[in-house]
Amino acid sequence: KRYSGYLSGAVAIGPQKYYMQGIYNDYAEALYEFQFRPSDVVVASYPKTGTTWTEELVWLLLNNFDYSQAKTPLDMRFPFLEADCIIDRRVFEFPEVAERMNGEPPPGPFDSLHRARDLPDRRALKTHLPFSLLSPELLRTSKVVYVTRDPRDVAVSFYHHHKIILSHGFSGTIDEFIDDFIEDKVLYSPFWSHVREAWEKRDEPNLLIITYEELKSDLPAVILRIASFLDVSVSDAQLETLTKHLHIDSMRCNPAINPDHDPIVKIDPHEGGFVRKGAVGGWRSSLSETSQAKLEAWMRRNAQGLDQHFGWT
Ligand code: A3P
Repeated sequence: KRYSGYLSGAVAIGPQKYYMQGIYNDYAEALYEFQFRPSDVVVASYPKTGTTWTEELVWLLLNNFDYSQAKTPLDMRFPFLEADCIIDRRVFEFPEVAERMNGEPPPGPFDSLHRARDLPDRRALKTHLPFSLLSPELLRTSKVVYVTRDPRDVAVSFYHHHKIILSHGFSGTIDEFIDDFIEDKVLYSPFWSHVREAWEKRDEPNLLIITYEELKSDLPAVILRIASFLDVSVSDAQLETLTKHLHIDSMRCNPAINPDHDPIVKIDPHEGGFVRKGAVGGWRSSLSETSQAKLEAWMRRNAQGLDQHFGWT
């Protein structure tokens, strides 16, 4: 049992059959019916594609570059809609987590959907859910920035994520994780259905698709593209400060970004922190030849043009 932390067990749900925790069923309807507002900005993604990076960028654009308010932990400023399905409270009974909490009650608030409902305009919301599991009204109502990334880098990043997020209770090897990833047996998989759902909506005026690779190669250009999409003007000085703020070295030591205080996160220097290597193409040096070959074959079977479009070659 490699994922004791998937708690009630993973289930495939919905027309596209996404892989979620069993507890997702308790929230599926409320998530599907969640009412978006015209002023909302949603950052949507498959995990490990650069979501946190994009959230911090979007939040500062929406909040007049208020670096002082940005000291509040990102997950408080930017509610993660389905957090309750991912962080099941039973995780606090895991011996390793209980020990880290020293008998303290679990941190709250935990009801992410209620928290999001209660927030005033203009809300910034995060989700890893694919479009088919969210309200069909979403793109008619609100703006969505969808971020994606070369899935081979996503796979490696997701492995390290499983090692530091104790609630996943993952005890396998990186090769075993890659097998599960390409067999669509990890949370929010299949990756390809997730990205294709967004890709099919690429002409919707309320959707902007960006990639991790674009963020890496020309961050100021992506900041300006997102700003224009959100109707926010950015001066040269603001652009320079934001670019510095979003640099990996600055994000790595920003306590508002890194959930070091969270009892379900174990920051092990060997695994890398939450903001880890931040490399493009790092999968090649991190994987055995067998896993590399499997990922390459999986790309060829599934990418069908998306790899060329996004430059994942
Ligand atoms: P790696 O594990 O490959 O380093 P998400 O926020 O969707 O979970 O994505 C996490 C990935 O984004 C991690 O990738 C993390 O290191 C990377 N990341 C976060 N902030 C970054 C930044 N400012 N610059 C580059 N990469 C960043």
